Amino acid sequence: MLHGDRILVTGVATPDSIAFATARAVLDQGGRLVLGAFPRDLDAARDLAATLDPDIEVLGLDLCDREQVDAAIARIGAAHGELDGLVHAVAFSPRGALGGDLTDTDPADIELAFRTSAWTLSATARMLRELAPATGGSLVGLDFDANEQAWQVYNWMGVCKAALRSATKYLARDFGAERIRVNLVAAGPIETRAGKGIPGFEHLLEVWDSTSPLPWDTRDAAPVADAVCFLLSDLARAITGEVLHVDAGYHAMAAPLTPEQRAARDRGRQDGAKVSRPA
Ligand SMILES: NC(=O)c1ccc[n+]([C@@H]2O[C@H](COP(=O)([O-])OP(=O)(O)OC[C@H]3O[C@@H](n4cnc5c(N)ncnc54)[C@H](O)[C@@H]3O)[C@@H](O)[C@H]2O)c1
Repeated sequence: MLHGDRILVTGVATPDSIAFATARAVLDQGGRLVLGAFPRDLDAARDLAATLDPDIEVLGLDLCDREQVDAAIARIGAAHGELDGLVHAVAFSPRGALGGDLTDTDPADIELAFRTSAWTLSATARMLRELAPATGGSLVGLDFDANEQAWQVYNWMGVCKAALRSATKYLARDFGAERIRVNLVAAGPIETRAGKGIPGFEHLLEVWDSTSPLPWDTRDAAPVADAVCFLLSDLARAITGEVLHVDAGYHAMAAPLTPEQRAARDRGRQDGAKVSRPA
């Protein structure tokens, strides 16, 4: 799908990172990679990148820091020329903003969660505007579906994700003239460092298992990564301002499956029906 496209994937930290699965998928689809990692995660990201291809450049990049963003624009422009796509797979919230009493959360925690998890989408949009060819580009971010409902957990981070979704639409409006598309993939729960940092994350895993009509593997980010590649690719050339759910259908259900429906789904799983891409 990506035949020669130059893609920057941000947010690589561990082998479980959605960004790392996405990096692998970009290569599988014929794309060329540059990776971005938060400075604290840079060494780990370099080790991971080397397992894919020793020539992949990994930039230290705190997306909250304008100087680092400007330096990354200059470095990518000088070393790689243009950028066809950019993946924003970045979020952070201090623990206080992820749980507890919403009225008693330290505003500084909320501000940091917002700046990292929502505002940085605009920083990546600016990067792509600087680096995309005249034919345009594609920016893809990662959502956890928090726009229309309150989760049992997630608190102010849910509010930040709602803001991310809103920002996606405003950026899609402003970047359309430059043929830059802006979309999100709303992923089901994946056992990453960020995911496991959510107090009550195990509860989310349980509600997914009781509700999603397709099986959902919380340790497999490949279905999410493949959808990101689709949105990066020319196949999605008329899609912008969109949220594509890759969640085994959870978002479309009003309530948990009946025990019979669940058993039928799980029989399908035992029979070998897979959500994962065949090897
Ligand atoms: N894991 C899930 O269940 C799940 C579900 C839906 C959406 N998402 C979203 O997927 C994205 C990736 O998260 P993940 O689950 O792969 O976890 P992860 O912990 O592997 O990735 C989060 C990344 O954000 C980076 N980061 C934090 N602050 C940063 C900053 N200031 N500048 C640059 N990078 C910064 C971290 O270094 C890390 O690489 C996030 O937006 C997350 O909200 C995750």
